[in-house]
Amino acid sequence: MTQLPPLADRNCTFLKACRREPADYTPIWIMRQAGRYLPEYRELRSKASFLEMCKDPDLAAEVTLMPIDRLGVDAAILFADILLVVEPMGAGLEFADGAGPRIARPVRSGADVDHLGEVDVEGSLGFVFEAARRVRAALAPRIPLIGFAGAPFTVASYMIEGGGSRDYVHTKTLMYRDAGAWHALMERIARVLIDYLNGQIAAGAQAIQLFDSWIGALGPDDYREFVQPHSKRVIEGLRPGVPVIHFGTGASALLELMRDAGGDVIGLDWRINLDEGWRRLGDSVGVQGNLDPIVLYADPPEIRRRAKRVLDRAAGRPGHVFNLGHGISRTVPVDHAIALVDAVHELSRR
Ligand code: CP3
Repeated sequence: MTQLPPLADRNCTFLKACRREPADYTPIWIMRQAGRYLPEYRELRSKASFLEMCKDPDLAAEVTLMPIDRLGVDAAILFADILLVVEPMGAGLEFADGAGPRIARPVRSGADVDHLGEVDVEGSLGFVFEAARRVRAALAPRIPLIGFAGAPFTVASYMIEGGGSRDYVHTKTLMYRDAGAWHALMERIARVLIDYLNGQIAAGAQAIQLFDSWIGALGPDDYREFVQPHSKRVIEGLRPGVPVIHFGTGASALLELMRDAGGDVIGLDWRINLDEGWRRLGDSVGVQGNLDPIVLYADPPEIRRRAKRVLDRAAGRPGHVFNLGHGISRTVPVDHAIALVDAVHELSRR
């Protein structure tokens, strides 16, 4: 029996917001906060490849912790990647510098789906759990650790396309021509994600974010038929009591459907005003977001004005987690990210 990791304080600001309880101020973390905009990340990365860093629990823990004190954020997110699950499923994975992720054996047919292997997450992704244990042991109790995975659609789109895509031709071709193979693939991915995320929770993650980063490629009818049951299955399969943030980009037309798939907090990108998004979602969920990530290139006084606008739209309602509407860009000055965190803390203090 391995020793249980020390837990974060259940009453920290971030977890309170996830439960829609009043808190002293609005908590903030930044998607992709553990990454390339930090010079100390680039320094480590000059000595190891991205996948080597992910697979080394000491390095992964070190990167996870980097932004905590530097930025003053209210939560840590595990340094890992949504595509790590693709490798043990048998599709192959590499990150060539500058070229983005490459899946060696794209899945394009029912036969390809049948060839995928069953995944023993402890054996093949145990390095992520080990990193989570090390992070949890090093973090102050007031800072919770967010675990994460890609949502089934976004993971499937990479497995099918073989990398990033503009129009998702292969993904939609499989969906429209062989619905059976599509659902079989989504079910396989969902099974792996449930084990993988519960493994992160057992290792010390106190909240989970599901990234459906490319879901905006679909219209509502396709989301309902081809995606919603699988995202729902993943969220329902997670250990109860651990808040789930369900995030999508370009998903303004899908918000209610994403909420119905599940999640305590719905992540909004910047293409919708936060008050309008929250009104549509209703009182049963919190919201995360939603400053345009490119605002961080403005000068700090403008960053502060725009952060205030987002806070004003949330109007102090319990259940708001401040974040960008998508990940921080790699050339943002660190001082600007710090200015945002400080502004959110000061302007939201109640
Ligand atoms: O948020 C965090 O700081 C935690 C770590 C994290 C990474 N990737 C580290 C990473 C998280 C949460 C992700 C999620 C992820 N990975 C998504 C969803 C993100 C979103 O914003 O919607 C996606 C689509 C991926 C797949 C992926 N991984 C891409 C497209 C890339 C960029 C490839 C490139 O070279 O431009 C990655 C690489 C990656 N993931 C890096 C980091 C820090 C950069 C690796 C490097 O140092 O070269």
